Amino acid sequence: MTTDTLKDLYELGEAPPLGHIPTRMHAQVIRQSRFGEPHSAFQPEVVPTPAIGPDDALVYVMAAGVNYNNVWAALGRPVDVIGARNKGGEPEDFHIGGSDASGIVYAVGDNVTNVKVGDEVVIHCGSWDIRAPEVLAGEDPMFSPSYKIWGYETNWGSFAQFTKVQAHQCMPRAKHLTWEASAAPSLVGATAYRMLTAWPPHNVRHGDVVLIWGGAGGLGSMAIQIASLLGARPVAVVSSESKYDFCRKLGAVGLVNRKDFHHWGRLPDWEDADSMNTFTAGARAFGKALWDAVGERKNPRIVFEHPGQDTIPTSIFVCETGGMVVICAGTTGYNADVDLRYLWMRQKRLQGSHFANDDQAYAFNELVLAGKIDPCLSRTFRFDETGDCHQLMFENRHPDGNMAILVGAPRPGMTTPG
Ligand SMILES: NC(=O)c1ccc[n+]([C@@H]2O[C@H](COP(=O)([O-])OP(=O)(O)OC[C@H]3O[C@@H](n4cnc5c(N)ncnc54)[C@H](OP(=O)(O)O)[C@@H]3O)[C@@H](O)[C@H]2O)c1
Repeated sequence: MTTDTLKDLYELGEAPPLGHIPTRMHAQVIRQSRFGEPHSAFQPEVVPTPAIGPDDALVYVMAAGVNYNNVWAALGRPVDVIGARNKGGEPEDFHIGGSDASGIVYAVGDNVTNVKVGDEVVIHCGSWDIRAPEVLAGEDPMFSPSYKIWGYETNWGSFAQFTKVQAHQCMPRAKHLTWEASAAPSLVGATAYRMLTAWPPHNVRHGDVVLIWGGAGGLGSMAIQIASLLGARPVAVVSSESKYDFCRKLGAVGLVNRKDFHHWGRLPDWEDADSMNTFTAGARAFGKALWDAVGERKNPRIVFEHPGQDTIPTSIFVCETGGMVVICAGTTGYNADVDLRYLWMRQKRLQGSHFANDDQAYAFNELVLAGKIDPCLSRTFRFDETGDCHQLMFENRHPDGNMAILVGAPRPGMTTPG
């Protein structure tokens, strides 16, 4: 078979011969004119297959993981990812999202040595200028001004037949998992791994109580397992008792239902004593529920935060003296209030954290390869349901754990290419 007899476009589930790159591919595409609710922001299109550079790999996507970042991409806020890239000089007027994938390497650039054509991989979403001076100097690349989240800040993510990645993003795939299960956990898992292990002296220690918001969500389900593997005592907060069993099976030693409390949101003015007393009573009652869940009067040394505006005042309040609230998102809003008295008098730390570097992503992947992490895949969607599963996430109506989308894999349950 010669190149000119090969097709320039393959249908979904119809893998091109290994190493053959068609000129066009199917993708689920966001455009600025469609910014809005995810169910209509994503639309199927045929687009050119991206060319790769010398440090890149082109991966044939078998399955894609679903993350909240492409809810934001669909909405076009807080960042218009297409406009931001155009300002940076990239010409494409569309966004192909998707920051998790499992797949097969179909091409590599001239400088690539860590993967080769035919390798089965999962992809972590950390990308940066590998030749930036601070990266070459060995600094954490997540602190480099050049870092970008692949499939959110960069184009050519996993909601397409082929994805363009930097080769260092390709990690070995756990072959005991299906394509869709292996596509599910890397983004949330590596993020949780960095949050819980990379901010000394607040690395999770044996016996620590760790409070985990959204315990049944993507981040939360990974955080419970990692904290548990580190010997800590994870306590999960959820919005329904129907999620208790799911969290317990992952290792939560205690559960709290946030719907039992009503003091959420921003702090009142500190001079408004009555309103402050109402907040404090609510936060105290929540703290008491935590002690009940732990089985002793022990506050969380680490609070695993991502809801943000609704929960930060309570997180700061219940965190142990000398402990850390570590946060990677503000799903409920970005203007979170901190009662500074608790922060300085009790010497607590509020630490931002964002995805992970190669070391942390690979360390998390080792846990997956060793079968120590359940990817918590709860539901698998068809490619044409890409907008629908993001819509469920947007409305917080998605199932517990993680979701995935079949792209090249013709059916669920497959662990090998064919
Ligand atoms: N910076 C990073 O590197 C990074 C990485 C991954 C994710 N994120 C961000 O982190 C956030 C969560 O991601 P995810 O994948 O875990 O999403 P997810 O699967 O939707 O889980 C989030 C959980 O938060 C809980 N929640 C919703 N509203 C809440 C509220 N008002 N108060 C307390 N808890 C609430 C929900 O659980 P209950 O309703 O059961 O409480 C939900 O399961 C998103 O904004 C995402 O973009 C950031």
